[in-house]
Amino acid sequence: MAEKKRRFAVLTGGGDCPGLNAVISAVVKTFLQNGCEIYGVPNGFNGLVNGHLIPMDFASVSGILPRGGTILGTTNRDNPFKFAVEENGELVYYDMRDRVVENLQKYDIEALVVIGGDGSLNIGAKLARECGVKVVGVPKTIDNDLPCTERTFGFDTAMAMATEALDRLHTTAESHHRVMALEVMGRYAGWIALHSGIAGGADVILIPEIPYNVDSVIKKIYERKAAGKNFSIIVVAEGAKPVGGEMTVARRVEGSFEPIRLGGVGEKLVREIEEKTGIESRCTVLGYLQRGGSPTPFDRVLSIRYGVAAAEACLRGEYNVMVSLFHDKIVTVYIQKAASTPRAVPVDSEIISTGRQIGICFGD
Ligand code: F6P
Repeated sequence: MAEKKRRFAVLTGGGDCPGLNAVISAVVKTFLQNGCEIYGVPNGFNGLVNGHLIPMDFASVSGILPRGGTILGTTNRDNPFKFAVEENGELVYYDMRDRVVENLQKYDIEALVVIGGDGSLNIGAKLARECGVKVVGVPKTIDNDLPCTERTFGFDTAMAMATEALDRLHTTAESHHRVMALEVMGRYAGWIALHSGIAGGADVILIPEIPYNVDSVIKKIYERKAAGKNFSIIVVAEGAKPVGGEMTVARRVEGSFEPIRLGGVGEKLVREIEEKTGIESRCTVLGYLQRGGSPTPFDRVLSIRYGVAAAEACLRGEYNVMVSLFHDKIVTVYIQKAASTPRAVPVDSEIISTGRQIGICFGD
């Protein structure tokens, strides 16, 4: 009698991110090449609650490596421990953990690969801890803010996009003698702003980790003017906040892993600069362009390495871990640790002092 094949499942959760398809492709191929079966879970944890898993083969992942988004679909709602169901026009929340466990058993899934940011990894860690589900996590997010890894996939692509935007903004800034601000994503961490700002030759970089004083920013603009530079470029992270002030909240999203969305600080900042200096100032919000489209070669390679490593961890039965980049090696870390406090930019880091040495103002 033919031996029963080991069977695994993979899901993508949270916001889309360049490299998701590359990870999926690597996970699927590694399992298939090692004689296992692999199922895709549609639309993140929603698919686990609803229980319609899809068998995947080599054809399912053919040609997806360079594609943005996720062929499995995703959502940043649908937490199975607090699952929102609309009843009479109102959201009612249910604990669906038993349904998730039943569905995994129904499909005879040995373990689940969760490709996600902190929201999805936290759910994965909780499923492991409280329900005995075997989980392997893969660190995804353009924000690069996950602890226990030196890099998340997606960050490099977002940074490249923001850098290109800065290069393009230089044109208008220089021609019109304006102050041009670029607001970038990153949630509560300034990684995208910091790296793209340095790569894109920004004069001012404002990140959540260093509250800014608008007068310091204006001082920098005047110093440049005095040196014959009639324009300035500012990169402002969506989570940047003035000294003694708050982050700018764009909206609240009911039922999401993370109820708050940031946004709007860039526009506030340029209005204040214009009022105080009379210099024409504009803000561009880069938004979802940072998350869309094809991953960079670096992100493709990292995603493939993560996908292979996640499947390999499952094959050797090493569960409840997240794959992680450490000193350019892929290692595994305990998923509960990886699903803890987000990783902020250390204010005393070498990259900040590098920026300071070349004259970048951090608003302090
Ligand atoms: O975490 C990725 C991210 O793009 C953040 O940078 C941003 O704050 C957030 O997601 C936006 O979320 P949404 O897609 O729900 O608007």
